[in-house]
Amino acid sequence: MKKDYSNELGTRFRDRYDELKWLYCELYDIDGFDRLCKIIKEYYNDRNDELKERDRKRENDPLWFHTNDIVGMMLYVDNFAGDLRGVIDRLDYAVECGVNYLHLMPLLDSPKENSDGGYAVADFRKVQPQLGTMDDLRELTALCHKRGIDCCLDLVMNHTSDEHAWAKAAREGDENARSHYFFYDNWDIPNRFEQTVPQVFPTTAPGNFTQLDNGDIVMTTFYPYQWDLNYANPTVFNDMTANMLFLANVGIDVIRLDAVPYIWKQLGTSCRNLPQVHNIVRMMRIICEIVCPSVLLLGEVVMEPKKVAPYFGTPEKPECHMLYNVTTMASIWNTVATRDVRLLRRQLETISELPGCDGFLNYLRCHDDIGWGLDYDYLRQLGMQEAPHKKFLNDYFIGRWKGSPSRGELYNDDPVLQDARLCGTAASLCGVEAALWDHDEEALSIAVDADIMLHAFMFTQSGIPVIYSGDEVGQLNDYLYHADIEKKFDSRYLHRGKFDWELAEKRHESDSYQGRIFVALRKLETTRAKHDVFMPQAQVSTFDTGSQNVLGLNRTYQGKTLLALFNFCEEEREFSFEGKLTYTDLMTGKRHTKQKTKLKPYGFLWAMIKS
Ligand code: GLC
Repeated sequence: MKKDYSNELGTRFRDRYDELKWLYCELYDIDGFDRLCKIIKEYYNDRNDELKERDRKRENDPLWFHTNDIVGMMLYVDNFAGDLRGVIDRLDYAVECGVNYLHLMPLLDSPKENSDGGYAVADFRKVQPQLGTMDDLRELTALCHKRGIDCCLDLVMNHTSDEHAWAKAAREGDENARSHYFFYDNWDIPNRFEQTVPQVFPTTAPGNFTQLDNGDIVMTTFYPYQWDLNYANPTVFNDMTANMLFLANVGIDVIRLDAVPYIWKQLGTSCRNLPQVHNIVRMMRIICEIVCPSVLLLGEVVMEPKKVAPYFGTPEKPECHMLYNVTTMASIWNTVATRDVRLLRRQLETISELPGCDGFLNYLRCHDDIGWGLDYDYLRQLGMQEAPHKKFLNDYFIGRWKGSPSRGELYNDDPVLQDARLCGTAASLCGVEAALWDHDEEALSIAVDADIMLHAFMFTQSGIPVIYSGDEVGQLNDYLYHADIEKKFDSRYLHRGKFDWELAEKRHESDSYQGRIFVALRKLETTRAKHDVFMPQAQVSTFDTGSQNVLGLNRTYQGKTLLALFNFCEEEREFSFEGKLTYTDLMTGKRHTKQKTKLKPYGFLWAMIKS
């Protein structure tokens, strides 16, 4: 018999009504809440049957994404395939890569100049015309769903472009539109904010406010053309929630909450991670559970672990489903430069103790820079000081450090704080680019091994691994942005180059570097999916390998244990087991009984221990 879903919305609503209303009224008035309830009903009614079926399946299995067989990829539509129809045509490639989670970088309408890579949205309901239409996006998500792929898109919620209709009206003096932003007619309050609010882009966009031609001052935490939204205004919250639900109804499965820690502003504070932010994220979670329970929230919180973890909420009051494992990412690159695994080991222990850590999204590279947000208290215990250590890391990765094969560029080199961050693709940072330039086959082979080992490490972590498009074939830096007037001030474009389909063809040649990386990544993915020890619920512990260059960890799940070793240096290392050990090398499938093993330069081992 067909199940009756006529009261589905009512049931979901009833279970959550009190909490939602209470949270809402903590921040806003009851009239706003009535409007929000109407929005919830409207978007539930608009949601199509296929998506509602998806909701029901996942509602019955809410931890469906806590598994070991999800492989993500993030890509720019234009770089990858020109436009959305191009992505539809190239979907086979994503499938060939084993991808079942596709993060489409910002594609909503955004001024051609002043777009911050699409993070300055002028219309949340329209696709950038050069990329296609909302119908193309609908078609793409539906096709992805048929092929078992979930789609992720950003909700850039902290700000809009200064070309958004609200911003335009505000500039014209419309009071209602102005109340969506933070407007001031003199510098008194902005100056008071500046005393406590740090800067995001100290070099490319200093300060947190921008003075318009007519003298008005508006809050712009990021670029001057990205106007901060005022979430103290219920209309802003309601309208942005409606925008989120609109995207969910287009078939987006994962909503990336861009720059979420910044959304609540209060004088006298850092305007980061304020309690109201959690209130808002919790409401968004509840609203998704009512309208579109198959949708996941991915929080972008680029901060230290103890500030990130609260965005998971609590088991009773969850907030984000997934969060970036940002400090681990930075600690990995730290280890590449230092060849010293102690910080990374410490980081893994910190992460594995966090509540909710099975929801981490792991990555090596993404569209943004690498910020050196490391555990400096711990580094100090090892004798390293923050400023000189950051300088060493940056020198290393831009290839200035003697013997470094890395080819990166600095990002937002702040002369005052000396706090530069770093850009570059994984392959260029690992030394592939320099080796090719020098026609040095041996160096190339070592660089490729390093690149593969880092990916192996990424796949060993609990959570969802996400490949940055191009990394699967060792794509190099793209220096063309230096000649582009719009982009040349933002070195993040160094690793936002066009996907080179011709070079990618070489993935089929097993002796090319593209082929070596591609084949290795596929093997890592399929092996990971086959073995339960990679389930995010596994117990993770690290151990001393006897070498500062070699990281060792165990993953134990349902009585089985994986012993993993990673050699972070360019020399061979030997590792002694405790007595004789029988294990299967998961990469070769061979069984061994040994007392010790050798790891080649930048080698790794996934050893499944016989139970
Ligand atoms: C996020 C994005 C970044 C963007 C910023 C402003 O941090 O990842 O690329 O510049 O938000 O929207």
